[in-house]
Amino acid sequence: MGKLYDRADIYDLLENEQRYQIVKRHWERVLRGRQVQTLLDVSIGSGNQTLPLAELGVRLYGSDLSGPMLERCKEKAERRGLSVDLRRSDFRRLDGAFEADKAFDCVASTGNSLPYVTNGEIPAVLAQMDRLVRPGGYLYIDLRNWDRILETKQRFYLYNPTLLNNGVRMNLVQVWDHHADGSVTFNLLYTFERENRIMQKEIFEEHYHPLKRELLLGALERLGYREIELMCFPAFLDSVKPESAEWYCVLARKQEASI
Ligand SMILES: C[S@@+](CC[C@H](N)C(=O)[O-])C[C@H]1O[C@@H](n2cnc3c(N)ncnc32)[C@H](O)[C@@H]1O
Repeated sequence: MGKLYDRADIYDLLENEQRYQIVKRHWERVLRGRQVQTLLDVSIGSGNQTLPLAELGVRLYGSDLSGPMLERCKEKAERRGLSVDLRRSDFRRLDGAFEADKAFDCVASTGNSLPYVTNGEIPAVLAQMDRLVRPGGYLYIDLRNWDRILETKQRFYLYNPTLLNNGVRMNLVQVWDHHADGSVTFNLLYTFERENRIMQKEIFEEHYHPLKRELLLGALERLGYREIELMCFPAFLDSVKPESAEWYCVLARKQEASI
């Protein structure tokens, strides 16, 4: 079975201009009234969740484990005439990729990426990210609502069919297997069809360690973060409570350096 992030072309088939504009509006709402001129996304992937920031005047940096995803991100940035500084790195070991003295206004992990590591590793990953945040800066994380997924033992996640430029219709179905050890495998089945006949299938498996809100917020507080704000994703949907949203984000402020 192939690996999803080796097929950044397939991963990106859900992306379109409308989603890009939604993400841009999301960031406008998240950053409103906040001093964020530089942002590092440590799981930038192909850039879907953070490339629009470069259009909002933020100096964007990104790292990721996957070479093909970074390559795709670079191509997309070039196509839009945007600038992004990309490095290959595991977010469990960020020190080498970004000089220790580089202090970003915000360090982010986007796209539900932290649950790729176990709950036990989360405090150390946040600490790695924290080292790159300037005093008074921010940590930002967006996630699927794992509390809700675990409560409902949700198994199926269906996407609307997508009509691709070449007239092919793509369907994506996810089936989630909940394991006895608490981890969850997402089985992703992509089918490509023309005139109601499937002509190509692609199957991928992604293994996650559900990350509950309490664990994340507790770890941020222990790192000294304050003004921790939860917002639904996208954040401009003010009326949707993050606790009941399908996807939400957390923005937390690092304390100013004491004199
Ligand atoms: C669902 S994708 C999200 C990508 C992008 N943020 C987006 O929203 O499109 C998850 C990303 O996390 C990356 N990833 C997984 N484990 C990682 C790790 N330990 N360090 C850095 N990146 C990692 C994958 O390579 C992949 O690009």
